Amino acid sequence: MAAGLGTRMKSNLAKVLHQLDGRPLVNHVVETAMKLSPREVCVVVGHQADDVKGAVLNEFDAAKVTFAIQEKQLGTGDAVNAARSQFENSDSTLIVLSGDVPMITSDTLFALVKAHSDAACTVLSVKLKDPTGYGRVVRDENSSFASIVEQKDASDEEKQIDEINSGIYCFDSKKLYAALAQVKNDNAQGEYYLTDVPRILREQGDKVAIVLCDNRREVEGVNDRRQLAAMEKVIRKRTIERLMLDSGVTFIDPKSVYVSSRAQIGRDTVIYPNVTIEGNSVIGENCVIRAGTRIKESKVGKRVEIRDNCLIRDSEIGDECTVGPMAHLRGNAVMADTSKVGNFVELKKTNLGKNSKANHLTYLGDATIGENSNIGAGTITCNFDGVNKHETHIGDNVKIGSDTMLVAPITVGDGAATGAGSVVTKDVEPGEMVFGVPAKAKASKVD
Ligand code: UD1
Ligand code: CA
Repeated sequence: MAAGLGTRMKSNLAKVLHQLDGRPLVNHVVETAMKLSPREVCVVVGHQADDVKGAVLNEFDAAKVTFAIQEKQLGTGDAVNAARSQFENSDSTLIVLSGDVPMITSDTLFALVKAHSDAACTVLSVKLKDPTGYGRVVRDENSSFASIVEQKDASDEEKQIDEINSGIYCFDSKKLYAALAQVKNDNAQGEYYLTDVPRILREQGDKVAIVLCDNRREVEGVNDRRQLAAMEKVIRKRTIERLMLDSGVTFIDPKSVYVSSRAQIGRDTVIYPNVTIEGNSVIGENCVIRAGTRIKESKVGKRVEIRDNCLIRDSEIGDECTVGPMAHLRGNAVMADTSKVGNFVELKKTNLGKNSKANHLTYLGDATIGENSNIGAGTITCNFDGVNKHETHIGDNVKIGSDTMLVAPITVGDGAATGAGSVVTKDVEPGEMVFGVPAKAKASKVD
């Protein structure tokens, strides 16, 4: 179920699109559902349906997930009803998950399915110190399932119950849809509650079971931003502890670092304060990542030093490189092994060859630079003519003088050089040296 707006988020964005650990809430749930290898995963969408669908398809194969549209958000019962045509005649077990309960694990779901066996419905519950806001599980004198009462409909006595409905259930598909037809909206919220279904099933003599989950974290819902932030904190702590204990990564100040649970970091790498590592980034062994750096969807080799305050996204850094301080790599920038990028240098869609250096105040965009070349301070590849982007190719063993403008498209051959302040508008032959504005060859070949 992922069709609701999420009023309590006070947001213009559908709740299930809010990010947890760098991914929309709904995708955490879809991922867990997929782990069960079910016959079908169906996402009920409604509020911002296209965006929710887009977010799901951004991460999951369209062949593996279907969507049901809930036109109006009339409650969780109505949400499940939106998928009626898919499931009402199927002899299957249907697991209902909530898009806003993202930390549920497949282990717990397997246990739920196992316990379900011949029941018409099995409710996953949990005991909470503070059950406020959740539906309460009411048990009968035999301690069997009696009903679920929503917070807003609960009597003072029912509000004392500390066992809550997780919003996760296993159903006999046919029985679910038959009972759903009897659900009314005569409650405090005027909604069709899915939580009425187990009560109806029980009243008509069907078996309704309860599985009490012992991990409250797994079934916590995200209803407001405070809960979202609390959950983010739990995941972050878990990730960093795992990296310290299992991977051997040093964090100087673990509390100030943000690492995606999908990132990998190698042994003996040291992470300084205020570092953010996002997405599926992979960082090798024995690296040093200094304070204030953000690395997103990038790959970093071994023994790399990334100095203070760098931004590295969608890029790749080889072994034994040095980057920064204050460098910016983006758009598939690639630094080969032992290359260096210094302060105030930006690389966009650029390959910097082995052992080459761009140490100061430089923009290299849509460029390739060979091996052992030096790019002087203040060099700029003028790659944009106002309409199109053009490429710059620089060979091996090239010396680009300080403040050179390379007006693309342009090629500078192996062993060539440019003088300080040159504006290079024509290709430079291998071994040639050019000066001036516009740059021209002067002396014969450099040696
Ligand atoms: C629900 C349960 C409550 C339980 C809690 C656990 C009901 C009536 N109540 O309450 O017993 O303790 O979850 O977290 O089911 N949704 C739709 N369409 C709708 C309404 C909701 O798709 O018309 C989706 C939402 O996007 C969300 C999920 O269903 O992902 C749960 O809805 P929400 O409104 O958050 O239910 P709760 O009030 O938390
Ligand atoms: Ca909820």
